[in-house]
Amino acid sequence: MGSDPVSAVTPAPPLSDDRPDRAALDVVREARRRRTFAVISHPDAGKSTLTEALALHARVIGQAGAVHGKAGRRGTVSDWMDMERARGISITSAALQFEYGDAVINLLDTPGHADFSEDTYRVLTAVDAAVMLIDAAKGLEAQTMKLFAVCRHRGIPVLTVVNKWDRPGKDALELLDEIAERTGLTPTPLTWPVGIAGDFRGVLDRSDGSYRRFTRTAGGATIAPEEALTAEQAAEREGSAWQQAVEEVDLLDATGADHDQSLFLAGVTTPVLFASAVSNFGVGALLDTLVDLSPAPSGQPDENGVIRELTEPFSAFVFKVQAGMDSAHRDRLAFIRICSGVFERGMVVTHARTGRPFATKYAQHVFGRERESIDVAYPGDVVGLVNAAALGVGDTLYTERPVAYPPLTTFAPEHFAVCHSRDTAKHKQFRKGIAQLDSEGVVQVLRSDRRGDGTPVLAAVGPMQFEVAVHRMEHEFGAPIELERLPYSLALRTDEASAPGVAAARGAEVLQRTDGTLLGVFTDKWGLRVLQQNKPELTLEPLVAAQLA
Ligand code: G4P
Repeated sequence: MGSDPVSAVTPAPPLSDDRPDRAALDVVREARRRRTFAVISHPDAGKSTLTEALALHARVIGQAGAVHGKAGRRGTVSDWMDMERARGISITSAALQFEYGDAVINLLDTPGHADFSEDTYRVLTAVDAAVMLIDAAKGLEAQTMKLFAVCRHRGIPVLTVVNKWDRPGKDALELLDEIAERTGLTPTPLTWPVGIAGDFRGVLDRSDGSYRRFTRTAGGATIAPEEALTAEQAAEREGSAWQQAVEEVDLLDATGADHDQSLFLAGVTTPVLFASAVSNFGVGALLDTLVDLSPAPSGQPDENGVIRELTEPFSAFVFKVQAGMDSAHRDRLAFIRICSGVFERGMVVTHARTGRPFATKYAQHVFGRERESIDVAYPGDVVGLVNAAALGVGDTLYTERPVAYPPLTTFAPEHFAVCHSRDTAKHKQFRKGIAQLDSEGVVQVLRSDRRGDGTPVLAAVGPMQFEVAVHRMEHEFGAPIELERLPYSLALRTDEASAPGVAAARGAEVLQRTDGTLLGVFTDKWGLRVLQQNKPELTLEPLVAAQLA
């Protein structure tokens, strides 16, 4: 001890029994302030607009139109983000963090397109709640339903926001029926619109019967001022529109569609709010509701179902790996969700899969093109670890007491293509690129002895994943590829013993995933059924289907 140069000049602080407790209290206090959620919606329901409106409300940005890189908004940096821009989808954004009052909001972005549902699924493993955004005119759309199914599967509480109330749309009560019938959740409106869809004046707050009246601002670019009025003032001001809202709310009261926190957390009910993201109407109410109702981070179950409490030493899991976000840097980011303890930049953590140490030298908040260095983070927060080449999706990091979080589910691919290098001189780049896309989960990479290592089969849930792979192989890795589509549409898990029997079947093949899993792939379900009937002894287990995950 005496030879320690540090303690020679700086007397060590007296060890007091309450120090660990104070650190634990700190973690609990910080975790309690956090709300980590994602917005799920069908493309075009207004997710990007709402994200901007939320940031605007929290005064992170001065004007709507600053966060995302969509057409007409701020440009993006990487080459293949151009593809996102052209398509109006977002694959690369990560998490927006901002303070709202005493709360810290972590808003995780999900890709809008169904072809990236696996990526969305991974993001949803990292949130504590979801906001289901519905277009008032369209109601529940295909992708909303799929994403909702993911939330139900994972037990994520869902808040519903009916958006675009400034435009003509469905009747509010009709929308509630649709939510109840199609999701099985009981909608419990917290606010009720005053003025029909297309004539949005404000909302009746069901908690106390008061009125929040909105004022339009030029182009919805700034926070819409809200006026708080009593029921009497509202009746005078809005006349029949207020009267109608009151009558409809009486109907809701009679059917008992009231908020119950435990039923919401149990996934039985969904609180409903009405908004117009583009006019910034109802956005403050959404933030208040998120803070009041959505759950703060809590202890997470490990792969054996044992809870790692928030106050235990640091632990986190990787839910997304993304390279090529910034063409100037060509770096690779691993995004972790912190589950327990405190993250401090520079700390050395253990990579559970390999047992190797990992130094967290560069840690960032990343949202679109915005990047900011992080020094300290707490449970619920998302940290982008820069150049984390060894980390793959689903990996766990920890300090002190070991832990491994459950592996992330891989979806059953439905599209398959043989990958040929278009430039044989680029052998090394080809291998590197394919390995990278595989570890990011951009596509699944399948191999077999028959096809050889030089022509792997790429498998995807949606064909747009192939477009990303082709684009990135050429522009990021300098190894252009050509894809030859295969006629398969089904994949099931098989094993060593059954593989020869499966491979011998007509219209079938056996391929191996990088994690060692053997997949039997089939052109259609009829061929599969015939095989199962003729050879019931073969192992053929269904993988998680995208729509059921
Ligand atoms: P997404 O991320 O869910 O795909 O949707 P996004 O926010 O890009 O919104 C899709 C379109 O819907 C945009 O119009 C947007 O302005 C519009 N929108 C979003 N929220 C509202 C709302 O509350 N009311 C109305 N009336 N429209 C809304 P666009 O014409 O495709 O693009 P833009 O040129 O207006 O940006």
